[in-house]
Amino acid sequence: METITMSQPGAGVDAASTKDATLIYRQSRWTRLTHWLWAISLFFLLLSGLQIFNARPQLYIGKQSGFEYNNTVFAIGAENTATGPRGYTEIFGHRFDTTGVLGWSGPAGQQTSRAFPSWATIPSYYDLGTARVVHFFFAWILTTTLVVWLVASLVNGHLRRDLAPRLDDLKRLPQDIIEHAKLRFHHTREYNTLQKMAYGGVLFVLLPLMIITGLAMSPSMNSVLPWLNELLGGRQTARTIHFTVMVLLVGFFIVHMMMILAAGPINELRSIITGWYRTDPPRHGDTERSA
Ligand code: HEM
Repeated sequence: METITMSQPGAGVDAASTKDATLIYRQSRWTRLTHWLWAISLFFLLLSGLQIFNARPQLYIGKQSGFEYNNTVFAIGAENTATGPRGYTEIFGHRFDTTGVLGWSGPAGQQTSRAFPSWATIPSYYDLGTARVVHFFFAWILTTTLVVWLVASLVNGHLRRDLAPRLDDLKRLPQDIIEHAKLRFHHTREYNTLQKMAYGGVLFVLLPLMIITGLAMSPSMNSVLPWLNELLGGRQTARTIHFTVMVLLVGFFIVHMMMILAAGPINELRSIITGWYRTDPPRHGDTERSA
């Protein structure tokens, strides 16, 4: 029968083990607190952001925007057809019928022209002012949270110990990809290579880029950092990058949820809520680190 014992965090490796299984203190309170703060912030940022996007549901590359320019890369809209109004989404000139979700949506008989449907926006009805208040509020919560996470992770060693890539990680990447494809997961203290890449990509590339492009769109920021807007190719390009990062974060979120479900949701959730994580019993001939 499996036996698990545990010790209080802070002592030694923060772990207690028996020959069968080990319950380790894996996620510090700073990691857990900041994780949930950014998860909540991103939820509100996404839904209020989609409401803001609805006010002008087109994206452009370059400095101009308007009917007279040919630089639209993405658009959501509605059009009248012989069979009635239809919603469409256009990506790089390729048009797709998205009636019911994008462009033309709502309950039967009350459908209206809106880019993202009411169930995907905050508020659900058209209100740009409220959406901006919600968006900017959570944008500052997210930014502060990231700074707190960075400082705490530098101080408590999380960054160096758990996230910093090592040569070893590169070597085990092909094996890691194969194991993920086979949905075979090892429960160890360390993040595997793909986890490090995904978490590092979110924390050091996507979220900072989201904040920087957000700042570049703000007119008041233009007077403080006029070069920022210029560096990103103008406000319209910054808006397109901002939207693209949102799509990538939604993609990360879907994969993140699938991986948690596949790796064992109870154990994974316990670790990100309480800090305690159950590692696999040591395999015969195991070294300290495993994939
Ligand atoms: C948009 C929302 C989310 C983002 C951007 C996000 C991002 C991340 C990142 C970057 C980490 C690594 C943190 C670190 O090591 O410092 C992490 C860990 C984790 N997240 Fe999320 N997360 C989100 C939502 C969620 C949700 C909703 C859940 C639970 C249902 C969840 C469960 C976990 C778990 C269990 C871990 C630890 C993974 C492990 O130990 O292998 N996350 N998340």
